[in-house]
Amino acid sequence: MQFKRTLLSCSLLLAGALACLQAQTDVGGVWRIHTERPDGSTHDVFLNLAQNGSAVTGTVIDNYHPRKIVNGAFAAGKLHVEINTWRQIVKTYEGTLTGRRLELTISEKETPGSKPSDPSKVTAEPSTEEATRPPAKLPIPELHDLPDNGLARTPPMGWNSWNHFAGRVTDATVRATADRIVATGMKAAGYIYVNIDDTWEAGRDAEGNILTNKKFPNMKGLADYVHSKGLKIGIYSSPGPFTCGGYEGSYGHEEQDAKTYAAWGIDYLKYDWCSAGEIYHDTDMRPVYQKMGDALQASGRPIVFSLCQYGKADVWTWGTKVGGNLWRTTDDIADHWKSLEEIGFSQAKIAEFVQPGHWNDPDMLEVGNGGMTNDEYRVHMTLWALLSAPLLAGNDLDKMSDATLKILTNPDLIAIDQDQAAHHAKRTALEGNTEVWTREMNDGAAVVALFNRDDQAKQVTATWSKIGLTAGAKARNLWTQEDVNLAGDSYTATVPKHGVVLLRLGKG
Ligand code: GLA
Repeated sequence: MQFKRTLLSCSLLLAGALACLQAQTDVGGVWRIHTERPDGSTHDVFLNLAQNGSAVTGTVIDNYHPRKIVNGAFAAGKLHVEINTWRQIVKTYEGTLTGRRLELTISEKETPGSKPSDPSKVTAEPSTEEATRPPAKLPIPELHDLPDNGLARTPPMGWNSWNHFAGRVTDATVRATADRIVATGMKAAGYIYVNIDDTWEAGRDAEGNILTNKKFPNMKGLADYVHSKGLKIGIYSSPGPFTCGGYEGSYGHEEQDAKTYAAWGIDYLKYDWCSAGEIYHDTDMRPVYQKMGDALQASGRPIVFSLCQYGKADVWTWGTKVGGNLWRTTDDIADHWKSLEEIGFSQAKIAEFVQPGHWNDPDMLEVGNGGMTNDEYRVHMTLWALLSAPLLAGNDLDKMSDATLKILTNPDLIAIDQDQAAHHAKRTALEGNTEVWTREMNDGAAVVALFNRDDQAKQVTATWSKIGLTAGAKARNLWTQEDVNLAGDSYTATVPKHGVVLLRLGKG
């Protein structure tokens, strides 16, 4: 650490007071920012700095993940450091060196789809490089195939806290959401799981049991409440030491955590790779997920297992084998068209890996979060239904418009998503910015979606002989709930910008 050298040179340089002052203003070394969050949990971030003249280089290490400083300077006792974080958010650490402390303000610049945190004032104190390093990799278990847990015969439906509430979710949010799911008719429409995402965790007790933070004073009580509404409750963790939000993960406590979840009455676990990526390789993903799959199956409670590792390592080829009921296939969704388009329209190629009990998960719904038009949200819901994707609403149910509720609870869309046969969706025609997708239903009917990804309204045509269908004289438009008369070998509709027309064809 730079300060040891500084003190030594200060005591030797009796006549060199000025030189001493200059040396003290070298900011090189490792600094720890230790914060206690309002929920009582703690979190450490490290700055590993090297100074050359007034230029500062190095890394900012959060959850063991080092991010390169892209712009750093230290002059006249003032530090300025910038890093790029996820979704191109620029994060700035700015402040003053006072004695052995850096008094800093952390701020973030907003980018599309990002949720920048409010600026915060923190103190950094000298630390060691060792403190920044992740723990050793745990032994990797031998591979074996887990039995099917019999859950999630149709894609899970419910709600998850992350897309709207992120770190603001509390016990009260979850209770209110459970109430609203019942009161709005969402429960009757099939939305059953109320899932708490990241930020419920605190540390561990002396026996290593995971603790909840102040936002969740009584997890068992909360689970009982959700169950009393005829709903089920989900929770979140990571195979790494930290979750993506920098909360306590399950690393080295997998079996113990699974037992705790079972004792609390948890019905669903989303298990998010996060800091495990700093310890394990992508090739370790299958055995690492298998470990929690085994732990859940040994826990004595049926718990849906949701894998979240962003579609790495072709998870759709082994997700079932580790006991997975669903697995994320992509990076995080954001509440804007570009994100929805990128994710939704890229999924047909892996549709064949879907089967009852085991689902591709293109991430949670953004419907009703305000960043898209209702046409865009109808495209969202249509793609998710065609893909047999989990339908986990991600909006604030307390402030839901009628239009949002109608999109989320459209019974015809839900019937497609939940169709027992889980036939695979196919993209059957592609022309410019328009696409036709089709899917067969269990009862022999077919659904046909005419998508317009263009920035203006377009005519889209489905030609039955070209897309391998025979159509009767009538179809049903599933978004307008109107009957449609068909004639000839094709159907043409004017589809709004970023919109869809969805038909269910009567038998030919
Ligand atoms: C990751 C996941 C998200 C959410 C956050 C929580 O980014 O992909 O769905 O769970 O972590 O920190």
